[in-house]
Amino acid sequence: MADCSKTPETTPGAASPHTDWAGFDFETRQVHAGEYPDLNNGLRIPPIALSAGYVFGDFDDQVDRFAGRSIDPIYSRQGNPTNGVAEERLASLEGGAAAVAVSSGQAAISAALFTLAGGGDHIVSTASIYGGTRILFGRSFQRFGIDVSYVWDSEDDAEWERAIRPNTKAIYTETIPNPRNDVTDLARIAAVARRFNLPLVVDNTIGTPALIRPFEHGANIVVHSTTKFLTGNGAAVGGAIVDGGNFDWEAAEAAGRSYPLITTAKPGLGSMVDRFGSGAYARAAREAVVNDIGPSLSPFNGFLLHQGMETLSLRMERHVTSSLAITSWLEQQPEVETVDYAGLPSSPLYELAARDYGLTAAGDGARTGSVFGVTVRGGIDGARAFVNHLRLFSRMTGIGDTRSMIIHPLTSTHATFTPDVNERLGITPGLLRLSVGLESAKDLIADLRAALDHV
Ligand SMILES: Cc1ncc(COP(=O)(O)O)c(C=O)c1O
Repeated sequence: MADCSKTPETTPGAASPHTDWAGFDFETRQVHAGEYPDLNNGLRIPPIALSAGYVFGDFDDQVDRFAGRSIDPIYSRQGNPTNGVAEERLASLEGGAAAVAVSSGQAAISAALFTLAGGGDHIVSTASIYGGTRILFGRSFQRFGIDVSYVWDSEDDAEWERAIRPNTKAIYTETIPNPRNDVTDLARIAAVARRFNLPLVVDNTIGTPALIRPFEHGANIVVHSTTKFLTGNGAAVGGAIVDGGNFDWEAAEAAGRSYPLITTAKPGLGSMVDRFGSGAYARAAREAVVNDIGPSLSPFNGFLLHQGMETLSLRMERHVTSSLAITSWLEQQPEVETVDYAGLPSSPLYELAARDYGLTAAGDGARTGSVFGVTVRGGIDGARAFVNHLRLFSRMTGIGDTRSMIIHPLTSTHATFTPDVNERLGITPGLLRLSVGLESAKDLIADLRAALDHV
């Protein structure tokens, strides 16, 4: 969306600023990628473009935009320059070809999968995913005729083989599922997806591109709830879909998996693949799903998102350091039964976590984010006493904020699942989900200690 084709006027002899950020480090791209020069007022920060629509140059320009011969914008349901900054920035940070910003994480997951699957189709997901996504799959997707089945042991090839059907259109997983912080082996799942000519869709909300970039591990599409770490301040709900540009849609079609929104040619225009190459999937999501259904992101929230991403790597480093300090301390407390944090050297997932997420600067643990599970003694009564006596942690639903938060999954995010499903997912009465913010780890530990006294 952003018009980077124009070069800002500079004093003759002075170098003009960069507009192409390929090849720059992550820290530079998170500040600059997607920005565009404001030729009217010289604004340094890309402004909030609050306009529902766009003026057509002339009659034929309108005809061309509607016919798809021009991709200049038509209406903000389909795209907006402020959101375009966030989209280009996120695509750059994830290492993808293109991104589409939408109104929430749930909208991103829905639109990402509706671009691939329709009524009568099927999706296979790993079992340990965000509770809201499991509800979305079990209720709305079911009602729309898209069946989702789960693989419980993602290391078991036979289970994948049993789950994948001729009408399967995607494999879905998350980088760091909550509340158990049970990181997935993306490369392994990507190998399964390749074997079956399926795109791998990965929710990287909790990992963020500062800690893991799923395309480097074989994923094809990334989705985000930008409400969380990307925006970073808990002020704005948003979501995004990123196209890795690395899936061969025509080869999948030839092998019997059809993706009509991406590969079917329009008379006189060709298919999305013909027109947009490596960004074909993102364009199909934007034109054929987001524009139809309408979960567009407010430019105001898009502004908060591109501003938030400017400091992503700094914040994630701090989130991880504090989480390691807090989880190492928690696992020593007599009132605590277990701590689920793959970054702890004592975790059974530590080797995988260290391989895929790398170690902290101090080398004392792996960088698996700041959302994890803690099980206190005394079951639900222990959990209630603990939660009720916290003063710094906020009792609320949410993660990935500057503020620390806590919730009891069994009676909230997982309250609608059967006891059998919750037992298999490890959602026990004493389990709490913590999201560690940017406050001092010492103060957070003091708050946790005071509350544990009541368990
Ligand atoms: C991993 C994950 N994905 C998606 C979502 C949904 O995002 P949103 O609340 O922005 O719709 C959440 C929300 O908590 C989440 O944790």
